[in-house]
Amino acid sequence: MRGRSVLVVGDLMIDEWIWGTVSRISPEAPVPVVAVSNHSFTLGGAGNVANNLRALGARVSFAGIVGDDDFAEQVRRLLREEEIDASGVVTVSDRPTTRKTRIVAHNQQVVRADWESMQPVTARDRERVAAFIRERAPRTDAVIFSDYAKGLLSREVVEAASACTIVVADPKPANLDLFRGVTCVAPNAHEAMEATGIAALDEASLDEMGARLLARMSCQYVVITRGEHGMSLFGHTGRRLDVPSVARTVYDVSGAGDTAVAVLALALAARTPIEQAVQLANFAAGAVVEKLGTATASSEEILALVAHER
Ligand SMILES: Nc1ncnc2c1ncn2[C@@H]1O[C@H](COP(=O)(O)OP(=O)(O)OP(=O)(O)O)[C@@H](O)[C@H]1O
Ligand SMILES: [Mg+2]
Repeated sequence: MRGRSVLVVGDLMIDEWIWGTVSRISPEAPVPVVAVSNHSFTLGGAGNVANNLRALGARVSFAGIVGDDDFAEQVRRLLREEEIDASGVVTVSDRPTTRKTRIVAHNQQVVRADWESMQPVTARDRERVAAFIRERAPRTDAVIFSDYAKGLLSREVVEAASACTIVVADPKPANLDLFRGVTCVAPNAHEAMEATGIAALDEASLDEMGARLLARMSCQYVVITRGEHGMSLFGHTGRRLDVPSVARTVYDVSGAGDTAVAVLALALAARTPIEQAVQLANFAAGAVVEKLGTATASSEEILALVAHER
């Protein structure tokens, strides 16, 4: 998978972390006062998908938007540090850079503040992103759409990737139909339930969900990620393939879906058969749930987990 090129398209975010300690309650309101000891930034949302690809040595470019503000500079700095090509990151003037600010005291989150707009991106800005995708898609091994429902993804942006042979989408249920015609859609079980209106997760319901999604999306594969139950693949064989989860100790499941979609697409980019690609994605996701925070999995960590499961 090393050296394969992947274009990530989606909702880029920056996670801002304010770390500190609490020793008193504010005289102004019944809230803790955090004495700040550290302040840092990490890439979030679709940026976490890009980080996961870089951890496996992929060549990564990004298409998305940032606001015209200081946090856009932080985003560009983080992309540069990860050696992610940011020439498809467009600055827009009518919204802030999506930012999630977390205040953490004694390793416990005290509060989170979200700075974001969920309005559709203007047609002009969408076209700038789409033009970049149209130019890159024919010479990239895979495209990933990482949807956090912040208004970037549209039919036009998705169609811009149609020249690429492998397109994997991690959709939000409300946007599902935007991704019709991609190679593979990979919702989690909850999203798949919401998208199909099927309210159960027994065997028959899962099969029905997969069949409906395959038909509705006219895609080759549907992969439903199922948290502690692993993943289920639906495809041309007409039979469901279940891959059980593999983590040894679960510390933090956040971002596991980003890892799963990154590794799935990168494995397909390296011409791995779909069954093995799903298994690899499942091992990689298992490796990141063993770590705190949103994380990435290296090839060594994935291989260690594979060896452990043998
Ligand atoms: N509790 C768990 N134990 C083992 N593996 C897990 C667990 N939770 C998640 N995973 C692994 O991570 C994959 C993706 O997780 P999940 O289905 O929860 O995606 P998600 O809800 O999109 O995640 P997120 O949105 O937090 O990134 C699963 O298919 C599985 O391989
Ligand atoms: Mg997810």
